[in-house]
Amino acid sequence: MEFPGVDGFLGTRASLMLDVVFLAMFLVIPLMAGSIALARFRRQWQSHKLIQLTLGIVLLLAVVAFEVDMQFLTKWEARAEPSPYFSEATQWSCPAGVALIVHLMFAVPTALVWVYVIVSALRQFPKPPVPGAHSFQHKLWGRVAAIGMTMTAITGWVFYYMAFVAS
Ligand code: HEM
Repeated sequence: MEFPGVDGFLGTRASLMLDVVFLAMFLVIPLMAGSIALARFRRQWQSHKLIQLTLGIVLLLAVVAFEVDMQFLTKWEARAEPSPYFSEATQWSCPAGVALIVHLMFAVPTALVWVYVIVSALRQFPKPPVPGAHSFQHKLWGRVAAIGMTMTAITGWVFYYMAFVAS
């Protein structure tokens, strides 16, 4: 089928950027888990900092590229139309539309929490980073950020399947 925008490489109806983000999350989640384990079990806070900062920057770039693709290049609704779970007429009440709303309910707050966790950690931990007065806040919101990112990935994968794989 012909759709506006650049097709992806996974052989589904998704666009290139959708495929990139879909696959990237399979890397981001284990890297984030490994980085938190480095802080928790190995006291390697500098490595934890570098990995989290890299993930933050990569995710920011991915969100920008993704939004450009979605807003200007790809009409995702057209790519989702052949799915039994989607119909443009009932965009926000059909199953894929509801899955997208659930996904965004995790994705948007999670992005804000990530910015907060990174900015406050950079400001309040010494250089190189070591536990201190900021630890309690950081562990609390760091966990919220990590769980939020995991849920963003899972709900994103569900939406991807419902919109661009199912037929
Ligand atoms: C979104 C980014 C980040 C997330 C999600 C995150 C998450 C976490 C989590 C969940 C822990 C607790 C591990 C445990 O259970 O013991 C932790 C610990 C720590 N993180 Fe981060 N982190 C992030 C960024 C950063 C940055 C940028 C720095 C440094 C500037 C940093 C420095 C630390 C330090 C020093 C600890 C040890 C705290 C302690 O054990 O008292 N983190 N992080």
